Amino acid sequence: MAANYNNSAWFYDSLARLVYGKALINAQVYLLKHIPKNAKVLIVGGGTGWILEELTRIHPSGLQITYVEIAPNMMALSRKRNIGSNQVTFVNDDIENIDLPADFDIALTPFLLDNFTDENLIKVFNSITVLLKPHALWLNASFQLTGKWWQRVLLKSMFIFFKVTCGIEASKLPGIDKCFEEKHFKVVEQQNFFEEFIGARIYRK
Ligand SMILES: C[S@@+](CC[C@H](N)C(=O)[O-])C[C@H]1O[C@@H](n2cnc3c(N)ncnc32)[C@H](O)[C@@H]1O
Repeated sequence: MAANYNNSAWFYDSLARLVYGKALINAQVYLLKHIPKNAKVLIVGGGTGWILEELTRIHPSGLQITYVEIAPNMMALSRKRNIGSNQVTFVNDDIENIDLPADFDIALTPFLLDNFTDENLIKVFNSITVLLKPHALWLNASFQLTGKWWQRVLLKSMFIFFKVTCGIEASKLPGIDKCFEEKHFKVVEQQNFFEEFIGARIYRK
Protein backbone atom coordinates (compact mmCIF):
# COMPACT_ATOMS: atom_id res chain seq x y z
CA MET A 1 0.00 0.00 0.00
CA ALA A 2 1.53 3.31 -1.05
CA ALA A 3 1.33 5.34 2.14
CA ASN A 4 4.61 4.38 3.74
CA TYR A 5 6.11 7.34 5.64
CA ASN A 6 9.46 5.67 6.17
CA ASN A 7 11.61 8.45 4.68
CA SER A 8 9.96 11.09 6.81
CA ALA A 9 10.41 9.36 10.19
CA TRP A 10 13.31 11.58 11.26
CA PHE A 11 11.55 14.88 10.60
CA TYR A 12 7.81 14.04 10.67
CA ASP A 13 7.02 15.21 14.22
CA SER A 14 9.05 18.43 13.95
CA LEU A 15 7.43 19.34 10.65
CA ALA A 16 3.97 18.57 12.01
CA ARG A 17 4.66 20.77 15.01
CA LEU A 18 6.02 23.58 12.83
CA VAL A 19 2.99 23.66 10.56
CA TYR A 20 0.19 22.80 12.99
CA GLY A 21 1.52 23.74 16.41
CA LYS A 22 -0.19 21.45 18.91
CA ALA A 23 -3.33 20.86 16.82
CA LEU A 24 -2.40 17.36 15.63
CA ILE A 25 -1.52 16.36 19.17
CA ASN A 26 -4.65 17.92 20.68
CA ALA A 27 -6.91 16.15 18.18
CA GLN A 28 -5.40 12.79 19.09
CA VAL A 29 -5.35 13.38 22.84
CA TYR A 30 -9.05 14.27 22.57
CA LEU A 31 -9.65 10.82 21.04
CA LEU A 32 -7.70 9.01 23.74
CA LYS A 33 -10.14 10.11 26.45
CA HIS A 34 -12.61 7.59 25.03
CA ILE A 35 -10.45 4.56 25.73
CA PRO A 36 -11.69 2.71 28.80
CA LYS A 37 -9.55 0.86 31.35
CA ASN A 38 -8.21 -2.56 30.36
CA ALA A 39 -9.27 -2.11 26.74
CA LYS A 40 -7.88 -4.06 23.83
CA VAL A 41 -6.66 -1.38 21.45
CA LEU A 42 -5.61 -1.53 17.79
CA ILE A 43 -3.44 1.42 16.68
CA VAL A 44 -2.82 1.65 12.93
CA GLY A 45 -0.34 4.10 11.46
CA GLY A 46 0.90 5.42 14.79
CA GLY A 47 3.92 7.10 13.19
CA THR A 48 6.80 7.81 15.59
CA GLY A 49 4.74 6.43 18.47
CA TRP A 50 4.37 9.51 20.68
CA ILE A 51 0.73 8.51 21.04
CA LEU A 52 1.85 5.50 23.12
CA GLU A 53 3.31 7.86 25.72
CA GLU A 54 0.15 9.99 25.80
CA LEU A 55 -1.90 6.84 26.21
CA THR A 56 0.37 5.65 29.01
CA ARG A 57 -0.16 8.98 30.79
CA ILE A 58 -3.90 8.22 30.90
CA HIS A 59 -3.61 4.45 31.47
CA PRO A 60 -0.24 3.52 33.00
CA SER A 61 -1.26 -0.15 32.94
CA GLY A 62 -3.99 -2.59 31.92
CA LEU A 63 -4.16 -1.93 28.18
CA GLN A 64 -3.51 -4.60 25.59
CA ILE A 65 -2.29 -2.72 22.53
CA THR A 66 -1.50 -3.97 19.03
CA TYR A 67 0.52 -1.33 17.20
CA VAL A 68 0.58 -1.77 13.42
CA GLU A 69 2.90 0.50 11.43
CA ILE A 70 4.17 -0.14 7.93
CA ALA A 71 7.30 2.06 8.02
CA PRO A 72 10.33 0.38 9.66
CA ASN A 73 11.89 3.71 10.68
CA MET A 74 8.64 4.83 12.32
CA MET A 75 8.44 1.47 14.06
CA ALA A 76 12.02 1.74 15.38
CA LEU A 77 11.15 5.07 17.02
CA SER A 78 7.87 3.71 18.38
CA ARG A 79 9.56 0.77 20.08
CA LYS A 80 11.58 3.17 22.23
CA ARG A 81 8.50 4.80 23.75
CA ASN A 82 7.49 4.56 27.38
CA ILE A 83 4.53 2.19 27.55
CA GLY A 84 4.40 1.86 31.34
CA SER A 85 3.00 -1.52 32.34
CA ASN A 86 0.77 -1.80 29.31
CA GLN A 87 1.26 -4.71 26.98
CA VAL A 88 2.17 -3.69 23.43
CA THR A 89 2.57 -5.99 20.42
CA PHE A 90 4.45 -4.19 17.65
CA VAL A 91 3.64 -5.34 14.12
CA ASN A 92 5.76 -3.83 11.35
CA ASP A 93 3.50 -4.54 8.39
CA ASP A 94 0.67 -3.29 6.24
CA ILE A 95 -2.65 -3.53 8.12
CA GLU A 96 -4.03 -5.37 5.10
CA ASN A 97 -1.67 -8.28 5.73
CA ILE A 98 -2.57 -8.70 9.36
CA ASP A 99 -4.43 -11.70 10.59
CA LEU A 100 -5.55 -11.14 14.19
CA PRO A 101 -8.49 -12.25 16.33
CA ALA A 102 -11.51 -10.01 15.81
CA ASP A 103 -11.80 -8.88 19.42
CA PHE A 104 -10.60 -5.27 19.62
CA ASP A 105 -12.61 -2.83 21.75
CA ILE A 106 -10.97 0.20 20.15
CA ALA A 107 -9.38 1.12 16.81
CA LEU A 108 -7.28 4.26 16.63
CA THR A 109 -6.36 5.66 13.20
CA PRO A 110 -4.88 9.13 13.49
CA PHE A 111 -4.20 10.66 10.06
CA LEU A 112 -4.09 7.26 8.41
CA LEU A 113 -7.23 7.14 6.27
CA ASP A 114 -6.54 10.39 4.42
CA ASN A 115 -3.47 8.91 2.73
CA PHE A 116 -5.20 6.55 0.31
CA THR A 117 -7.03 6.62 -2.98
CA ASP A 118 -10.71 5.71 -2.65
CA GLU A 119 -10.01 2.24 -3.94
CA ASN A 120 -7.33 1.47 -1.37
CA LEU A 121 -9.13 3.27 1.45
CA ILE A 122 -11.93 0.72 1.15
CA LYS A 123 -9.45 -2.15 1.51
CA VAL A 124 -7.73 -0.61 4.54
CA PHE A 125 -11.08 0.31 6.06
CA ASN A 126 -12.43 -3.22 5.69
CA SER A 127 -9.32 -4.83 7.09
CA ILE A 128 -9.71 -2.74 10.28
CA THR A 129 -13.50 -3.18 10.52
CA VAL A 130 -13.27 -6.97 10.62
CA LEU A 131 -10.94 -6.85 13.64
CA LEU A 132 -13.43 -4.96 15.81
CA LYS A 133 -15.88 -6.46 18.28
CA PRO A 134 -19.55 -5.58 17.86
CA HIS A 135 -20.12 -2.08 19.40
CA ALA A 136 -16.40 -1.33 19.44
CA LEU A 137 -15.28 2.30 19.18
CA TRP A 138 -13.25 3.60 16.23
CA LEU A 139 -11.35 6.77 17.04
CA ASN A 140 -10.33 8.60 13.89
CA ALA A 141 -8.64 11.90 13.07
CA SER A 142 -8.34 13.11 9.49
CA PHE A 143 -7.95 16.27 7.50
CA GLN A 144 -11.19 17.61 6.07
CA LEU A 145 -12.26 20.43 3.76
CA THR A 146 -14.88 22.76 5.18
CA GLY A 147 -14.82 25.43 2.49
CA LYS A 148 -11.87 27.63 3.46
CA TRP A 149 -9.51 28.39 0.55
CA TRP A 150 -6.31 27.90 2.56
CA GLN A 151 -7.35 24.37 3.54
CA ARG A 152 -7.20 23.34 -0.13
CA VAL A 153 -3.81 24.98 -0.57
CA LEU A 154 -2.35 23.38 2.55
CA LEU A 155 -3.79 19.98 1.71
CA LYS A 156 -2.45 20.08 -1.85
CA SER A 157 0.99 21.12 -0.55
CA MET A 158 1.03 18.21 1.90
CA PHE A 159 0.04 15.67 -0.74
CA ILE A 160 2.74 16.95 -3.12
CA PHE A 161 5.38 17.06 -0.38
CA PHE A 162 4.69 13.53 0.86
CA LYS A 163 4.36 12.19 -2.67
CA VAL A 164 7.85 13.47 -3.46
CA THR A 165 9.48 12.44 -0.16
CA CYS A 166 7.61 9.20 0.59
CA GLY A 167 5.66 8.21 -2.53
CA ILE A 168 2.25 8.69 -0.88
CA GLU A 169 -0.45 7.69 -3.37
CA ALA A 170 -3.30 10.12 -2.57
CA SER A 171 -3.60 13.46 -4.31
CA LYS A 172 -7.01 14.32 -2.95
CA LEU A 173 -8.99 13.37 0.14
CA PRO A 174 -10.82 10.06 -0.24
CA GLY A 175 -14.40 9.52 0.97
CA ILE A 176 -13.71 8.71 4.61
CA ASP A 177 -17.14 9.73 5.99
CA LYS A 178 -18.78 7.66 3.28
CA CYS A 179 -16.87 4.55 4.38
CA PHE A 180 -18.07 4.92 7.98
CA GLU A 181 -21.63 5.58 6.83
CA GLU A 182 -21.75 2.62 4.46
CA LYS A 183 -20.60 0.26 7.19
CA HIS A 184 -23.23 1.74 9.56
CA PHE A 185 -20.84 3.24 12.09
CA LYS A 186 -22.51 5.91 14.22
CA VAL A 187 -20.78 9.13 15.31
CA VAL A 188 -20.76 9.22 19.11
CA GLU A 189 -18.86 12.48 19.55
CA GLN A 190 -16.72 14.78 17.46
CA GLN A 191 -14.59 17.87 17.63
CA ASN A 192 -12.82 20.00 15.03
CA PHE A 193 -9.35 21.49 15.35
CA PHE A 194 -7.19 23.98 13.43
CA GLU A 195 -10.16 26.00 12.16
CA GLU A 196 -12.02 22.86 11.14
CA PHE A 197 -9.23 21.53 8.94
CA ILE A 198 -8.87 18.59 11.31
CA GLY A 199 -11.82 16.43 12.30
CA ALA A 200 -11.61 14.05 15.25
CA ARG A 201 -14.52 11.64 15.52
CA ILE A 202 -15.53 8.78 17.75
CA TYR A 203 -17.61 6.16 15.97
CA ARG A 204 -19.43 3.14 17.32
CA LYS A 205 -19.59 -0.04 15.26
C1 LIG B 1 0.35 10.70 8.18
S1 LIG B 1 1.22 9.53 9.12
C2 LIG B 1 0.51 9.83 10.71
C3 LIG B 1 1.38 9.35 11.84
C4 LIG B 1 0.80 9.54 13.24
N1 LIG B 1 -0.50 8.94 13.38
C5 LIG B 1 0.75 10.98 13.61
O1 LIG B 1 -0.34 11.59 13.56
O2 LIG B 1 1.81 11.54 13.95
C6 LIG B 1 0.50 7.97 8.62
C7 LIG B 1 1.22 6.77 9.18
O3 LIG B 1 0.55 5.57 8.76
C8 LIG B 1 1.49 4.61 8.33
N2 LIG B 1 0.78 3.72 7.36
C9 LIG B 1 0.35 4.07 6.14
N3 LIG B 1 -0.26 3.03 5.53
C10 LIG B 1 -0.26 2.01 6.41
C11 LIG B 1 -0.76 0.68 6.36
N4 LIG B 1 -1.39 0.23 5.27
N5 LIG B 1 -0.57 -0.12 7.44
C12 LIG B 1 0.06 0.36 8.54
N6 LIG B 1 0.57 1.62 8.65
C13 LIG B 1 0.40 2.44 7.60
C14 LIG B 1 2.60 5.46 7.71
O4 LIG B 1 3.84 4.81 7.58
C15 LIG B 1 2.64 6.64 8.67
O5 LIG B 1 3.52 6.42 9.76
